Amino acid sequence: MFKFSDLQLPVVQAPMAGGINTPELAAAVVQAGGLASFGFAYSSPEKIDADLTQTRNLLEQSGAAGDGLSRINANFFVFEPVQLPAKEIVDVAIRDLKSLNLDADFNLTIPQAPYFPDLEVLLEPIWRHRPGVLTFHFGLPLVSVMKKAHDLGICVGVTATSVREALLIQDAGADFVVAQGIEAGGHRGTFDAQALHDDMLGIDDLVKALKPVISLPIVAAGGLMTGGDIRRVIQRGAVAAQMGTAFIGTTESGASPAHRQALGTSMAQVKTAPTVFTRAFSGRLARGLENEFIKKMADKTYLPFPIQNTLTGPLRQWAVKANQGDYQSLWLGSEYQRARIGSVADMMKLLTEEYQTALRSEDI
Ligand SMILES: Cc1cc2nc3c(=O)[nH]c(=O)nc-3n(C[C@H](O)[C@H](O)[C@H](O)COP(=O)(O)O)c2cc1C
Repeated sequence: MFKFSDLQLPVVQAPMAGGINTPELAAAVVQAGGLASFGFAYSSPEKIDADLTQTRNLLEQSGAAGDGLSRINANFFVFEPVQLPAKEIVDVAIRDLKSLNLDADFNLTIPQAPYFPDLEVLLEPIWRHRPGVLTFHFGLPLVSVMKKAHDLGICVGVTATSVREALLIQDAGADFVVAQGIEAGGHRGTFDAQALHDDMLGIDDLVKALKPVISLPIVAAGGLMTGGDIRRVIQRGAVAAQMGTAFIGTTESGASPAHRQALGTSMAQVKTAPTVFTRAFSGRLARGLENEFIKKMADKTYLPFPIQNTLTGPLRQWAVKANQGDYQSLWLGSEYQRARIGSVADMMKLLTEEYQTALRSEDI
């Protein structure tokens, strides 16, 4: 079974649903000695099959270390059952999006059931391809899913944002916990979408809180950008650092031009924009670059997750085509100003050098 200690550098390139994870990105991360991930939450079985087949081919051609997809993590959301709210509420949510008054060509239609993909169907290509790792966000998978993964020798991890969630993950028999700090870009992986109480712990405090009570390996996520950051969380007790924002600006990522620009060094004024939490794009709390959409939608009506995500889908797709960063969900972690751009090989080389430097400085 996959072991974090087998990685040349304790780095997990984070799953990022929505087109950022590509076979090229995954293969390059594995070739450079890390664990690569795919965010397959909104994917189709056909696309998952195609992505994993292409990744396997790229790795075979490169003669990369490890066999097949042993250093690939397939990631899914655990969606909660959801119902379309009353017609009056849906009408207000649509009216609110129309009030943005965009001179754009997209249709806003009431989302139809099923509101999210069937996990059992999405997992079918996973059981055939058998990547080394399977992770879940927003909650625990069914016992039968965990058992099947274990029967096939697949290592299972689940996101925790609190000690309470991590204990549930441990009790459920998972193999590791992905501790997600408040700095993290993208959706906050809390189990309860409606929870009013969230400890909002930063990654250092979360790892510190988990360490005495959790015996499972802990992967730290949130705001980690450099080899020094990786070393810091390892010293605090994590086995690896899961990095999302740090990989968005790599040559091999599938990020939109606007997403890349937000990280580009030439966009000084954009780089000063803060990241904020919003429910406006998907209905669930996620951290991204504060743009016009987030600002204008701040006090509006949203449908529950992921119905709001489906509702805003055509708008977001139009924004990507029109290169309108102000209407895309530009998920970024709070430390995005420290993210770098370049090829995965260069990034991993730099992270390794910085990690070694941090290690050496401890010996002095
Ligand atoms: C663009 C983007 C998309 C993300 N999508 C997912 C996802 O599909 N599944 C998941 O478990 N985490 C997802 N995350 C969260 C990451 O797993 C991780 O917690 C986060 O990237 C860590 O913070 P950082 O971005 O500061 O490195 C996403 C993060 C970003 C930035």
